[in-house]
Amino acid sequence: MAVLRLLSASTLSAPPAQCLPAMAVLRSLSPAPAQFSTRSVLARHGCALPAQCLPAKADSAFTSSILPSTPASAETHQVVHTSSDSLQFEVLELVFSLCKPMVFKAAVLLNIPDIIATHGGGRSLSVEEIASYIAASTKKPPQLEYLFRLLRCLASYHAFTESRDAGGDFKQYKYGLTNLSKLLVQKENDESYAPLLLAIASNEMYTGWEHLHESVIEGCSAFNRAFGMGPWEYMSRYPKTGDMFNKGMATETRAVMASVVKIYNDGFKNINTLVDVGGGTGAALSMIVKQHPHIRGINLDLPHAIAGAPTLPGVENVGGSMFEHIPPADAVFMKWILHDWNDEDCVRILKKCHESTPANGKVIVLDAIVEEEDAAEKASLRRMALMFDMAMMVFTDGGKERTEEEFKKLFVEAGFQRYSITKLPFPFLQVIIEVSKS
Ligand SMILES: C[S@@+](CC[C@H](N)C(=O)[O-])C[C@H]1O[C@@H](n2cnc3c(N)ncnc32)[C@H](O)[C@@H]1O
Repeated sequence: MAVLRLLSASTLSAPPAQCLPAMAVLRSLSPAPAQFSTRSVLARHGCALPAQCLPAKADSAFTSSILPSTPASAETHQVVHTSSDSLQFEVLELVFSLCKPMVFKAAVLLNIPDIIATHGGGRSLSVEEIASYIAASTKKPPQLEYLFRLLRCLASYHAFTESRDAGGDFKQYKYGLTNLSKLLVQKENDESYAPLLLAIASNEMYTGWEHLHESVIEGCSAFNRAFGMGPWEYMSRYPKTGDMFNKGMATETRAVMASVVKIYNDGFKNINTLVDVGGGTGAALSMIVKQHPHIRGINLDLPHAIAGAPTLPGVENVGGSMFEHIPPADAVFMKWILHDWNDEDCVRILKKCHESTPANGKVIVLDAIVEEEDAAEKASLRRMALMFDMAMMVFTDGGKERTEEEFKKLFVEAGFQRYSITKLPFPFLQVIIEVSKS
């Protein structure tokens, strides 16, 4: 509360627009515990802290509590910092970080980004308006105050813009799309990340993560421990989950493949037949053949995955296992496949690729490479790759993200002679590894 007071006690009657998102965060923290200093909260949420946003004394003192600067009856308070402010806030954020995707998921399940995109006509909608559109599909009107609280929280993460007409109560708060929530609109939006959010924030995924610590002790897949079977078997038994996962993967595929087809354009030119091993819905292959219509594309995946794959121009869907047979082709494409498997299985897969391609054939691997420690400038990508590595620990039996040296060993053992690496621009984790037989 002290922080809020501080803002209202400043000379501002209407804060500048750039302060609004951060102020919304502060609002969502009300009543704010002592350690939530204005500067640390605002800075953490990316507000550039224009001078007029800050009360004059906010930065001066470093003592251990929030002290009234005037007698208790007065309205102004002095915010003070402790050296452990940031650390405590970081831990609190960490503890609650599990909730963030769930809050976003609720918005997607309520179709809020689509409602604003469809009915907002470029403007924001009030809580009441959003509620009425939700009610049209749920047949049960949402609780307005609950909806407002969800939207307010999301706005604090810049998922929506937030505004309010003077004098209106919470029902009059208005919410509009931001660049972030535009990525969650699903209708007529090939770039939507909503399917990936739903797949990753799914019940099964969270249940798998619950067992990570046991996985460390036992050296086994946490998912297997939770469900008694691996993810591919689970998805074949529960097609709804399989469908959700494949749609989520296709989302990521569309984003990264837009970059791959540009950067590796020449690499596809001399290929007449290309098999995408573990190609899921065929999304990657379809983007390649669209750019290179001379290529005959074969999408190989397990029968249950192929059953849910759409018919796409230039793509033949084939159900089967890569451990048994890979259809002959000039080249094999594998995106996010090797990281799913232990070294032994990877060599088996690569040997099958070797068998199914001609002497001048190649395998195009799209996977992350864990950079060595000294590549510090890429710290955020490295950290993301290491989080993917944790995901592999949870969901696969021995799958992992690998260093270049680890990949090299696999290629050599499978009988390949050469490989070259092409990097993709930020924010993509994967690199293109072209592996050749000669
Ligand atoms: C991580 S997903 C990658 C999907 C796709 N390549 C992409 O990046 O969007 C792994 C894929 O491997 C498939 N898969 C698992 N075991 C397989 C097998 N034995 N043979 C063929 N595909 C398999 C799964 O069904 C799934 O589609």
